[in-house]
Amino acid sequence: MRLSVIGTGYLGATHAACMAELGHDVVGIDADPAKVEALTAGRVPFFEPGLPEVLQRNLAAGRLRFSTDPADAADAEVHFVCVGTPQKASAYGADLSQVWAAVDALAPHLRHPTLVAGKSTVPVGTAAEMAARLQARAPAGTGVHVAWNPEFLREGHAVADTLHPDRLVAGITDSSDEQLLREVYASLLAEGTPWLVTDLPTAELVKVSANAFLATKISFINAMSEVCEATGADVVTLSKALGMDPRIGEQFLRAGLGFGGGCLPKDIRAFMARAGELGVDQALTFLREVDEINLRRRRRTVDLAREAVGGRFRDRQIAVWGAAFKPNSDDVRDSPALDVAAAIYTEGGEVVVHDPRAMDNARYSFPHLAYADSPQDAVAGADVLLLLTEWRDYLDIDPHNIAPSMRNRVVVDARNALDLATWRAAGFTYRGLGRPGA
Ligand code: UDX
Repeated sequence: MRLSVIGTGYLGATHAACMAELGHDVVGIDADPAKVEALTAGRVPFFEPGLPEVLQRNLAAGRLRFSTDPADAADAEVHFVCVGTPQKASAYGADLSQVWAAVDALAPHLRHPTLVAGKSTVPVGTAAEMAARLQARAPAGTGVHVAWNPEFLREGHAVADTLHPDRLVAGITDSSDEQLLREVYASLLAEGTPWLVTDLPTAELVKVSANAFLATKISFINAMSEVCEATGADVVTLSKALGMDPRIGEQFLRAGLGFGGGCLPKDIRAFMARAGELGVDQALTFLREVDEINLRRRRRTVDLAREAVGGRFRDRQIAVWGAAFKPNSDDVRDSPALDVAAAIYTEGGEVVVHDPRAMDNARYSFPHLAYADSPQDAVAGADVLLLLTEWRDYLDIDPHNIAPSMRNRVVVDARNALDLATWRAAGFTYRGLGRPGA
């Protein structure tokens, strides 16, 4: 099929490359010439394992191209809208300016009946508004249909999540639209991927409520962490025992520094804002608590670090392992790790950060922090080591090898990821979040 993908950020670049991988003829449209140039040259402008290979393979096969001109999307049978929906600068709601800019740029080129399928995470009700706006502006008028086809991909697993999703959700208003989407995903459906057909608002809500649930699960275990700290219980064992109940499940039950990134934090806030507009704010007030628990873990980590260096950060060197919001990503958007690092810097600490992939992005966002080229360099002369993002690289380091270069052997394991016994055996004072003696 001929497909267009509007917006080639994280979601769009992955979707465009993966749809070409399924055999479709795909054009990716983005207003940013730098992105288009990079993708056309086979370069992915962010770190995503496996994506460069898929991109390059499909560019070479002639099934994939990128352009800044929306006219190049004119003859696509389905247009996927994949632009960003960040949090507004000074409010909880989602900033939809990229969505409307994309729709307005595309509309004049829609001369024949076509399907526009939204994938961006949006406030419920956006799809209907998009349909009205497109039908009013496109030469094809009511021949332009809108469907909602949310995306659940995780950074670091984006290719696998797109090519082998848990489920495909299609919000539609007409059965012919279902048929088109079934054709797009024919090979995934043949593999047995569950296919859920619903209306537009349900499809929009599936995405935001899934993210709200995941955020709630993380904050639940982090709330238990606070109780563990007050009672001498161990949240790691608690989490393991809870996760063995299949009704609860072990995933997203890792206690620690909490969630960050470009999705969960802004999605729960946008969801609360939308609930307020709909007059059902009470239904989601618990998400305020979810957000607050999450931010409290960051403050707790700063407190632990301060205690570890004798009560104040001035004249103390703090080594930070991890800047990305999670491992296997170079994304530092709302990164808990950098939030903690910046808070310590603000209190006068000398912070030295290392990350295997996110150094450039971290430097760009937090130029005042010091950066080390290796995890070993970061700890040299440090009074405390903070593990803030649980990259495999860090877990594989033998603490015996770094202990001699540190001024003080104290580690704050804010992801509960290090082997406590090994670090203690290497002479470290170990502090975790929600762990006994920590
Ligand atoms: C998330 C959703 O998982 C995905 O379905 C959606 O499409 C986009 O948002 P992503 O932002 O890539 O994906 O990251 P995710 O793997 O969900 O992790 C989010 C944050 O939660 C990270 O900061 C991670 O460190 C943290 N986390 C995750 C925990 O603190 N504990 C856990 O048990 C799991």
